[in-house]
Amino acid sequence: MKLIIDTDPGIDDAMAIALAHAMPEVDLIGLTACFGNTFTEQSSRNARYICDLMGFSVPVAEGAALPYGETDYVPSANVHGPEGLGDLAEVPQIGKNVDETAAAFLVRMAAEHKGELVICAVAPLTNIADALELDPAFAHNVKELVIMGGAYKHAGNITAHAEANIYHDAKAADLVFASKLKTKMIGLDATMLTLLTPEDFGELAKKAPKIGGFIAHISDFYLAFYRSVGVTNGCPMHDATAVLACTHPEKFTFEATGLRVILEGDALGQTVADSTRQPVDVAVDVAGKWAVDLFMERIISLG
Ligand code: RIB
Ligand code: CA
Repeated sequence: MKLIIDTDPGIDDAMAIALAHAMPEVDLIGLTACFGNTFTEQSSRNARYICDLMGFSVPVAEGAALPYGETDYVPSANVHGPEGLGDLAEVPQIGKNVDETAAAFLVRMAAEHKGELVICAVAPLTNIADALELDPAFAHNVKELVIMGGAYKHAGNITAHAEANIYHDAKAADLVFASKLKTKMIGLDATMLTLLTPEDFGELAKKAPKIGGFIAHISDFYLAFYRSVGVTNGCPMHDATAVLACTHPEKFTFEATGLRVILEGDALGQTVADSTRQPVDVAVDVAGKWAVDLFMERIISLG
């Protein structure tokens, strides 16, 4: 499967990139960077650093710096750390971004791999909305968009109603749900069932000291955040779960429904059913133990 991950690395984004690299089913052909957990420049720098650390190289295209219609953005440093990778105080600049915007790269790759390209979007959906605007054929050319974002029956995580990726650019997310893109939404209903425990990270560090050890190290910060908000049994591998939905959709239970995003008020960023729109496959359940076990196995295989 030809895959591009649209990402804001981000601790669980790093897990997703590592997992995609380790999945034999996946041909990872690029990463596109968005603001979100970090500013966009930090996202693309972190994406390049993560690839280098994991011993591979793919094009990294930098995308949107701000949500639709906004002039300012504050990243989620309390969840992912000041540079996006836990307590790492400095992240080296390795290599360079490609000389093309994320939206232009997505549009070009979708045309070159027409009907084949899967995009796993694990950040605010601004780059995807930009690609839809840039090329009317984009929605048709993409095989499938798999989103980590939204909360369907589950409560929100950034507000009582909204999940962070959707909340951070509700307008862009609504444009995506209004589009003709064939879409799966892997929201909190599924990702909160895929928790990694401190013991899992201990095992990763022991059995795969380089890559597993890196993931374990940066995840200390992430575990501490989740403990601080009352999740005491681990931290969700949100973005890695979306990668698994690309390769193993049969392990998920989906409900098909049109969706829209609430664009104002207390419920800003909430994803709600809208029968006037094209159905999205919304994940309402996943085989959580299977997902964690496969993540562990694949990361350990990286060493
Ligand atoms: O709500 C979880 C999502 O928000 C994940 O993509 C995580 O990386 C954060 O950006
Ligand atoms: Ca993310």
